[in-house]
Amino acid sequence: MNEDNINLNNIKVLITEAEIQNKLKTLAEKIEKEFPINEEICVICVLKGSVMFCADLVKHLKNMVQMEFIRISSYGNETKSSNNLQAIDLTLPNLADKNVLIVEDIIDTGLTARFLTDLFKIKHHPKKVLFISLLNKKCARQVEIEPDYYGFEVDDKFVVGYGLDYKGYFRNLPYIGYFPN
Ligand code: IMP
Repeated sequence: MNEDNINLNNIKVLITEAEIQNKLKTLAEKIEKEFPINEEICVICVLKGSVMFCADLVKHLKNMVQMEFIRISSYGNETKSSNNLQAIDLTLPNLADKNVLIVEDIIDTGLTARFLTDLFKIKHHPKKVLFISLLNKKCARQVEIEPDYYGFEVDDKFVVGYGLDYKGYFRNLPYIGYFPN
């Protein structure tokens, strides 16, 4: 990415705020089909990137929801995955026999998704785990894994906004954008 391009004026919108907000309703309907309304869900927000998506998505759920937060880092300050996951905080309550919804911002190489899926199955023994991601960068995949549901497929460009950052910036944007070369 050209560092001279990295400022708010150069961002091109890829997915609008309205498109995201509409998609939240569709995704919530899918979740409702998996977890009936009379069942509780423990929603796991994978920080920091999924903060906006998770916060908006849970507003559409009619179940009793408990929210938990874990923090993993894979990018550092770069635009390519370091392939070196850093589990910063994986503290969680007892999830045995619970419905768990893992909420991610984007699946890129798939390493984080693989790590989390394995972690929940091996360590937490939930009743059911559903993995949802706002974005899916299928073309960048290094391990074979797909979310149960995702909002939008994106091609191999670095995106920012709606929780996703570059060097800590741009998470506050209500849309998803990118910096053209
Ligand atoms: P993965 O382990 O390579 O699938 O990467 C997962 C994490 O990398 C995501 O949860 C994001 O935080 C970050 N990431 C991947 N692609 C992008 C991007 O295009 N923009 C911003 N962050 C990204």
